[in-house]
Amino acid sequence: MTSPTPIHEAVREHYAGRIKNNASCCGPDNCCSTDSNLYPADLLATLPDGESIVSYGCGDPITLASLQPGQTVLDLGSGAGLDCFFAAKQVGESGKVIGVDMTPEMLEQARGSAKRLGLFNVEFREGFIEDLPVDSNSVDVVISNCVINLSPNKSKVFAEAFRVLKPGGKFAVSDIVTDGPLPEAVKQSLSAWAGCVAGAVEASEYIGMMEAVGFTDVSVTPVFFDKETVDSALDDMKLDVKEYPREVVYKAVYSAKITAYKPV
Ligand SMILES: C[S@@+](CC[C@H](N)C(=O)[O-])C[C@H]1O[C@@H](n2cnc3c(N)ncnc32)[C@H](O)[C@@H]1O
Repeated sequence: MTSPTPIHEAVREHYAGRIKNNASCCGPDNCCSTDSNLYPADLLATLPDGESIVSYGCGDPITLASLQPGQTVLDLGSGAGLDCFFAAKQVGESGKVIGVDMTPEMLEQARGSAKRLGLFNVEFREGFIEDLPVDSNSVDVVISNCVINLSPNKSKVFAEAFRVLKPGGKFAVSDIVTDGPLPEAVKQSLSAWAGCVAGAVEASEYIGMMEAVGFTDVSVTPVFFDKETVDSALDDMKLDVKEYPREVVYKAVYSAKITAYKPV
């Protein structure tokens, strides 16, 4: 990819603003669930006492990934780095974790936290998930948390994830998908795109794009949001409530656990 699209710019500005204000997407004012709901207590306990959890995710790709010591892990859209830190603990000193993100403010926060946590097996690289700064056939597991829905070119993201995975490698991602069409007012809103809603595609389309680049055994398991979470997310996007029925959004938008493999 040579230059960012207006969607990339809007998304980057949104997340740069969020990290500057240290506001989590997963708080009461945005699209996702609360932090404590996203991860099991035993996983949260692997972070040092008092370490604040900065998550903008919509699920728990770490549990989904079943990481093993020694593996190389790539996090697409690593944000403030939380999933990379969990992964770094699990793969250990013989493993390696790479986080890729396009927002310099996120990278700065993630690199600072990694240093403070004393994690030397994690590296954060600036780049687009549509054009990964990662060698082909070099990664055991690709993880991602609430990011691929934000891309205006999801097929390219899947092709890149497939390229960098080793044969037999695993794709384990939490993301937003839909069941049925979204109201046009939502789809046209850049703030709804940045808030992880407008860019989401139907689960069947998501699976089709993954299979088209070569992934096999694609599995999508839905995790539905409660109404309060969806309401607060849509309120935050400042959409005119009269323009669309919220019931459609409650039913249509959900977080999904997605796994797939690159064939051996
Ligand atoms: C919803 S946040 C999720 C961050 C992190 N995965 C987490 O769970 O906290 C989305 C992140 O993806 C990054 N991002 C979005 N689109 C991207 C793209 N096309 N290329 C690289 N990074 C992207 C944003 O900069 C932001 O840090």
